[in-house]
Amino acid sequence: MTSAIFSTVVMYCIITFDGSRASSPVQPPVPPWAFPVLLDPDAVVCFSDGAWTLGSSLGGMGWVFKDPSGAILAQGSASSAFLPSALAAEASAIKLALLAAKAADYENLTCFSDCQELILLLKTNGLSNEIQGLLLDIRFLVSSFAWVNFLYVPRAQNSEADLLAKSSLSGCVAPIVGD
Ligand SMILES: *[C@@H]1O[C@H](CO)[C@@H](O)[C@H](O)[C@H]1NC(C)=O
Repeated sequence: MTSAIFSTVVMYCIITFDGSRASSPVQPPVPPWAFPVLLDPDAVVCFSDGAWTLGSSLGGMGWVFKDPSGAILAQGSASSAFLPSALAAEASAIKLALLAAKAADYENLTCFSDCQELILLLKTNGLSNEIQGLLLDIRFLVSSFAWVNFLYVPRAQNSEADLLAKSSLSGCVAPIVGD
């Protein structure tokens, strides 16, 4: 752990040797699948997000489909009254996005979520007591596409799906973004 932090700091110092070091804070380590990534031109890009309120078990889910150039193809949102956690809302958002993608006949998907824990579970075929049923649903749906890739995106780059999820949570009708 100490050596990992140390090497990150060393890397950073080398990169910023030209003099900007003094004014910039040390950056946190970047996960290997971090945004931005090269997008596959044969895939529809999907951004999804879940919102959840502690205490009410109410979850909001939002998703946006884009072509590789960034143009919005479709978007959707839903809410659910019985979600046990924020992680379940995130997984639910991906499940609903996959169902919508299937209905739209998309063949290949690059799916972005800002939930690192969920992306890791999906990329590693991991187990989670909390959302095992949702993970199985997602894996079953994935098998009906030519291919689906799951990638992490920082929260700041997932604001459209976030807005849809939060709007559906509060019962409001979401504005159509980018239309
Ligand atoms: C899906 O991916 C496969 C393999 O990468 C490719 O041959 C196919 O053309 C893609 N489908 C679409 C609709 O782009």
